[in-house]
Amino acid sequence: MNIKATKSKQNGTANVLTPPKPYARIVNGIFPGNKPRSQTSRDEEIVVLMKIEKIGVVGCGQMGSGIAQVCAQSGYSVLVSEVNNELLRKGITAIESSLDRGVQKGKMTPQERGDTMSRLKGAVGTADFKDRDLVIEAAVEDLDLKKRIFAQLDKVCPAEAIIATNTSCLSVTAMAAATGRPDKVLGMHFFNPVPAMKLIEMVRTDATSPATLETAAAFGRSLGKTIVITRDSAGFIVNRLMIPQVLDAARMLEAGLASKEDIDTAMTLGLNYPMGPLALADLIGLDTVIFIANGIHEKLKGPHYVVPALLQKLVAEGRLGRKTKRGFYDYD
Ligand SMILES: NC(=O)c1ccc[n+]([C@@H]2O[C@H](COP(=O)([O-])OP(=O)(O)OC[C@H]3O[C@@H](n4cnc5c(N)ncnc54)[C@H](O)[C@@H]3O)[C@@H](O)[C@H]2O)c1
Repeated sequence: MNIKATKSKQNGTANVLTPPKPYARIVNGIFPGNKPRSQTSRDEEIVVLMKIEKIGVVGCGQMGSGIAQVCAQSGYSVLVSEVNNELLRKGITAIESSLDRGVQKGKMTPQERGDTMSRLKGAVGTADFKDRDLVIEAAVEDLDLKKRIFAQLDKVCPAEAIIATNTSCLSVTAMAAATGRPDKVLGMHFFNPVPAMKLIEMVRTDATSPATLETAAAFGRSLGKTIVITRDSAGFIVNRLMIPQVLDAARMLEAGLASKEDIDTAMTLGLNYPMGPLALADLIGLDTVIFIANGIHEKLKGPHYVVPALLQKLVAEGRLGRKTKRGFYDYD
């Protein structure tokens, strides 16, 4: 099950002795452990990477479906779970449509599309996760729910399995504490839409072992993603910086300082952003923006993380963004 990587004394890179197939092209870096380098003894410079072949994904919404898709596309066996058959069907249909678009655009062949789908299975609940090497939780942004899911996964998954969360801002440490394996828990924060976005923030807690971090990072690279590492703190890197901007854009709109189009055009052309903050909020999901803002505000308390009334009103009206075809903008 395990492979060994040793850190070269000359250049600090990891040499995988017997790489499993999915890792053949990606394991070539070593990541910082929990101790400062000066305290790391030579003995501890041996990191055992786990062989990852079978992936579980919890939740098949916007993010879970994207994560399941890129894992299956990269050659992994994927089991994705939802709360009921209807939502599972909806999520799998979204994956099929995304792959169809890939074929239409010439990014993959019909054969590759078929192979990807053959590696992907769905389930209601997590009872079948008992053979998974790595599980990525992508359920809604609610800490109590995530803690319950982590406790459940801890019971079902093999003792050596890594359990990751795609949370946008919540405490990975709290989720790890709901398990008996905090050393094997970390955040793997993908970005939306997952097939297109190149980044994964790897979030390590004080308990995350170097082997877990490095295995997850190697896995992330095998999906073609770039990895950054951050300690567990509210909003990590991207959302801590991005959420105040989205909320301030909503506050400007609310105060009548500019139209939504002009706010977005100003940020797109003025800062060379691919889209403005209000269009970005629609893409993320306005309900998810509120979950993230509240999650960060609970920890950091800054006024810039307070959700403006306009955003709350849109969500109360069911205008959740692109996923409901209505948000700041209409998407008909
Ligand atoms: N939307 C984004 O842009 C974005 C980006 C990065 C990270 N995230 C994070 O990803 C996670 C999911 O966000 P999303 O945008 O995909 O939300 P979403 O609402 O589109 O999907 C969440 C899915 O989880 C399912 N779910 C809830 N409880 C479940 C359970 N016990 N078992 C299985 N499935 C369950 C829901 O039915 C739903 O389909 C959140 O933690 C969010 O903060 C979101």
